[in-house]
Amino acid sequence: MRLLTAAVTTVALTLGAQVATAAPIEIKFSHVVAENTPKGQMAMRFKELVEERLDGKVTVSVFPNSQLFGDNKVLEAMLLGDVQMAAPSLSKFQKYTKQLQVFDLPFLFKDMEAVNKFQQSATGQELLTSLEKRGLVGLGYLHNGMKQLSAGEPMRTPEDAAGKKFRIMTSDVLQAQFEAVDAVPLKKPFSEVFTLLQTQAIDGQENTWSNIYSKKFHEVQPYITESNHGLLDYMVVTSAEFWKGLDADVRTEVKKALDEAIAYGNDISERKAMEDRQAIIDSGRSEVIQITDAERAKWVEAMKPVWKQFEDEIGADLIEAAAASNN
Ligand code: LMR
Repeated sequence: MRLLTAAVTTVALTLGAQVATAAPIEIKFSHVVAENTPKGQMAMRFKELVEERLDGKVTVSVFPNSQLFGDNKVLEAMLLGDVQMAAPSLSKFQKYTKQLQVFDLPFLFKDMEAVNKFQQSATGQELLTSLEKRGLVGLGYLHNGMKQLSAGEPMRTPEDAAGKKFRIMTSDVLQAQFEAVDAVPLKKPFSEVFTLLQTQAIDGQENTWSNIYSKKFHEVQPYITESNHGLLDYMVVTSAEFWKGLDADVRTEVKKALDEAIAYGNDISERKAMEDRQAIIDSGRSEVIQITDAERAKWVEAMKPVWKQFEDEIGADLIEAAAASNN
């Protein structure tokens, strides 16, 4: 009997020790941009909040600058359990759902207020679930901002872009957008853009002020047209398997920390865009071109047919709901 008691005690002690030293859950957060961007800052804030509040139960490792996975691999890696969180641009989900293509339509949102209004609407929130069938969970939208058009030559009207090669994200809508002005779009990962521009393997690209500045694209692109022609925002995602595997109380705390980090990122995104725009101007490396209303109207006229082209894939109702957020 005494032997049995000793054995039970040993088992109990071993189990107890295991519980006490249970390894923390690690969230690897992988992204492709620099730390000094809305996404980079949001990821760092998320790490701080989680580690402060979850008392060692959960740790967050942030991998910026495509260190862990490039933009075209991260979602596959997430489904394999090699990374737990990421915030790819909304243009990079095409393989998983067609609906998010709505965000890529050129000249759809007049400003970030309209974007926000649509994302927070019932329709926008429902889109967070559009990846569920593919094993991914949308946890929230994060802003970067409006895209500008950079190139080796000034881009004032669509004719200027004709025949020129532009890097795009992996999106058929963006491909159609450049084809609509007779340009040549090339789908390339973010990590390759600087070298492609520097070696003049391509003529230009479209991106936000913070991405252009933090990746020094302005140092190898003498002209940036302030076109605000499209959106570059993100969806923060995780895998359903990882998310459902968390204890309910841990999941609630992680989600709360994430919501706060996203609010922080969204809060700084517009200011960051304006600061980085000014820093580019101050650098003297690139001329920021303002186009006239008449010139802008030409881009709109040339690119707007893309909406119709993708109406069946995206859904006319969805396009209409997004456009209505401008009112
Ligand atoms: C790009 O590939 O240009 C962007 O999606 C990078 C990013 O994540 O902002």
